[in-house]
Amino acid sequence: MNCGTALLLMLLIPVIALAQGEADESAVPDPVLPEAEPPLFPPDGAPVTIAEIPAPLPSLSAQTCNACHGEIHDQWAGSGHATAATNPVYTAAVEALGRPAECDACHLPLEVQRPTLAKGPGKGQVENPAYDPTLRLEGVTCAACHVRDGEIVGPRQLAVGQAPHPVRASRAMSTPEACVSCHQAGTDEAAHGSALIDTVGEWERSTFGQAGITCQECHMPRTSGRIAGSRYAAYSAHGLTQARDPKELARAVTLQVSLRSSSIQRGETLRATATVMNTGAAHAVPTGDPAHRLELAFTVEDFEAALPKGAEPASEWFERTLDAGPPVTVSSDSRLQPGGQRSVDYSYGADKKSKPGRYTLVVRLHWWAVSAEQAEAYGLTDEDVRILISEQRIPFDVN
Ligand code: HEC
Ligand code: HEC
Ligand code: HEC
Ligand code: HEC
Ligand code: HEC
Repeated sequence: MNCGTALLLMLLIPVIALAQGEADESAVPDPVLPEAEPPLFPPDGAPVTIAEIPAPLPSLSAQTCNACHGEIHDQWAGSGHATAATNPVYTAAVEALGRPAECDACHLPLEVQRPTLAKGPGKGQVENPAYDPTLRLEGVTCAACHVRDGEIVGPRQLAVGQAPHPVRASRAMSTPEACVSCHQAGTDEAAHGSALIDTVGEWERSTFGQAGITCQECHMPRTSGRIAGSRYAAYSAHGLTQARDPKELARAVTLQVSLRSSSIQRGETLRATATVMNTGAAHAVPTGDPAHRLELAFTVEDFEAALPKGAEPASEWFERTLDAGPPVTVSSDSRLQPGGQRSVDYSYGADKKSKPGRYTLVVRLHWWAVSAEQAEAYGLTDEDVRILISEQRIPFDVN
């Protein structure tokens, strides 16, 4: 089954099972924070409704926050959160599926960002009179995580008057509860379905999760700079460090290639082994959407950079396959789990009539947002949906 079906299945799933209650409550005990607090996000993908904009702020837009939190704004603007509703892979997928409203749950979390709203379970959609098309472009905007009922929710207790807007300290901001409503989703667990987005589950089962190393520690590391206006302080960065950045990805997923021997005779076979390790992520790589996959690709080039006779390019995929159900279940999973590694062999049998000379084994590791077939169905090219994580070129002699 292809991943287009996977996305379609996601939208057919009646209940998006959220692991809200499973967030690690033991992390970051802060005595000044209230013990009991309302959940940060409404259940089951319901929109975040904001009855009142915190005084004296003029609007919910990230532009409002930008006036004082310029550094944090710019970091956020470069992250996938800011483009969650506008990135070309997402918009192509939504169009191809006939714009299902279900996708809004995580890509357009605020009620005012949604052009239509659900009338009730299974009752279709109605126009949203409060719809704000400008806010829609901001995807997972500041207010989605920070604004609730006339207040700004933040990670710390501030002194009275420290901020020009009302603030409420929340323990949840420093735990995976701030992430789980969008980074964990699946079928009804009671019906033995599988989580289709299982990032928080993967983390919980890892040594990182057990040690209480939160999502924020890796993705929102402490940095120092202008937290607000001209005030310098340490604050949590908002650029979601490490994701989709080829340099950071190369650090998270390590590729090692070894050759049995650095020269072969014509008519002999070159044997290589590539080992891919998840050295930096506290969840599977790739994680998240079931369409995501890693490709380990092998090819050989002769001294004219052409594919020599006898060489066959090969790819190994690290991905999940789904069983349509119902309920939808994950039928196989070859991704790299936290701390996991896998070795893949490749061989090239040099033709007896090959030209002697210096050849090159080329091994590439790619991250794909969706498969090549799906990209084509969305009217996108391979380059639109894949990121080159690392490339190794290893010379060998054919004598
Ligand atoms: C309201 C929903 C929502 C919440 C809450 C949320 N995310 Fe996301 N996140 C998304 C969506 C949607 C994307 C995908 C953006 C895209 O289309 O590429 C995403 C993407 C990401 C990425 C990939 C980065 C990139 O640049 O594409 C990381 C890392 C991430 N989120 C981490 C977090 C962490 C850590 C938290 C909690 C502190 C969190 N998210 C909370 C919805 C959310
Ligand atoms: C007029 C300037 C101004 C605007 C506009 C503004 N803020 Fe603030 N904000 C501040 C200042 C000043 C602080 C205190 C910073 C400090 O001293 O740590 C603050 C603190 C915060 C905190 C930290 C609260 C805590 O508990 O740690 C958050 C979160 C926050 N602002 C979010 C926002 C968001 C989201 C917006 C837009 C909807 C926004 N702010 C708009 C000036 C502003
Ligand atoms: C030990 C550090 C670490 C922790 C803790 C961590 N991550 Fe990650 N995360 C990474 C690295 C490294 C990557 C880049 C590799 C990748 O794309 O999988 C990444 C990538 C991601 C991505 C983008 C992946 C993709 O394939 O699109 C998302 C989303 C994400 N993390 C969410 C989370 C959430 C949610 C949590 C908490 C439950 C979390 N991460 C905890 C290190 C971490
Ligand atoms: C996906 C959710 C999310 C979005 C979107 C988001 N933030 Fe945050 N923000 C957080 C979390 C979680 C923390 C606390 C992190 C921690 O405790 O390590 C935080 C912390 C902060 C702080 C306090 C920093 C500190 O360390 O005391 C400010 C100020 C802030 N955010 C402003 C903004 C602004 C402005 C935007 C939009 C430009 C924004 N945030 C977008 C989740 C988000
Ligand atoms: C439960 C929350 C949730 C829902 C509902 C959801 N998504 Fe996502 N989506 C995410 C998160 C989180 C990410 C990316 C983070 C990651 O890499 O794991 C993402 C990423 C994507 C991406 C990859 C974008 C890129 O740049 O790589 C596509 C495409 C996508 N979603 C399409 C859809 C479509 C279409 C729907 C509706 C059928 C949908 N999503 C519904 C949470 C959701």
